Amino acid sequence: MAEIKRVGVLGCGLMGSGIAQVAATAGYETIVRDVSQQVWDKARAGIERSLAKFVEKGKLAAGDRDATLKRLRFTTTTADLKGCDIVVEAVTEDLELKNSLWRELDALTGPSAIFASNTSSLTIAAMAAATKRGDRFVGLHFFNPVPLMPLVEVVRTVTTSEETFKRAFAFAKSLGKEPVAAKDNSGFIVNLLLVPYLLDAIRAVERGVGSVPDVDKAMQLGCGYPMGPLTLLDFVGLDTTYKIAEIMFAEYREHRYAPPPLLKRMVLAGMNGRKSGKGFYDYSSDPPRVVDLGV
Ligand code: CAA
Repeated sequence: MAEIKRVGVLGCGLMGSGIAQVAATAGYETIVRDVSQQVWDKARAGIERSLAKFVEKGKLAAGDRDATLKRLRFTTTTADLKGCDIVVEAVTEDLELKNSLWRELDALTGPSAIFASNTSSLTIAAMAAATKRGDRFVGLHFFNPVPLMPLVEVVRTVTTSEETFKRAFAFAKSLGKEPVAAKDNSGFIVNLLLVPYLLDAIRAVERGVGSVPDVDKAMQLGCGYPMGPLTLLDFVGLDTTYKIAEIMFAEYREHRYAPPPLLKRMVLAGMNGRKSGKGFYDYSSDPPRVVDLGV
């Protein structure tokens, strides 16, 4: 099996920057592509903050933090990823955008390079089919916050070769993660179960079953979840959840994946959760305040 030395990451939003961080920390030369220096600057600052926390807690030596940062490079040119042994894509949930990047890279990268998508809801088959490397295409689905969440779903589609699946699984382990194998169905394992739960929490608020903080408190204290569902929605991003729900609803045509009207209204208003400063909670104060949604 060809050794993985260089890792490419497409997109350095919340997920892409986390993936780049764990790859560089694990010792891989890592190159990240995004559209502008402004986006990288934000990603690099987030990575530095996260690494600083690990150093502070004694989980990472200061020298290893410096070496990690040296292994990270940023670019706006997709072609700069051509020497990578694996490319992990974490751009927005837009199939056309993802496939235009995959097509460009497919023509440039070496025959043994693996393509891996971190998609939350699209099928891997829909991307693999846009390239000539269906046998070297997998899903590698990480969880937010990537440096802390141990799970990676390793997704094999109908064309993925056994060797590619094994290499991708070993790669996830080399990042210090716990991989599980998942079938290429929209949402894989986690989002198949998590997304209807999150959408049902919004429906519960819409129907007045409980207030936002009470729904959160109920699930935290009643079920031992680290965050209530509405806090988690703000954390994942309401715009991201809306896109995921639309894709899963189109795939399964089941009501439980349909985005509730309240979610749509909040996204239309730019209330995308923590990243925009406001969602179910307003993050301009500490602790965050509950937002009056008029429901
Ligand atoms: N890097 C390094 N350290 C971090 C960090 C980061 N990115 N984020 C938080 N930390 C640290 C904090 O500084 C804190 O350190 P101290 O204990 O020293 O203070 C520690 O981690 C714990 O954080 P917090 O005190 O802020 O809060 P917490 O105890 O609630 O833990 C959490 C935070 C790990 C995020 C926890 O709340 C949790 O597990 N939440 C659920 C997350 C989840 O469900 N993620 C999946 C989302 S779904 C998804 O990602 C898939 C998809 O496709 C949509």
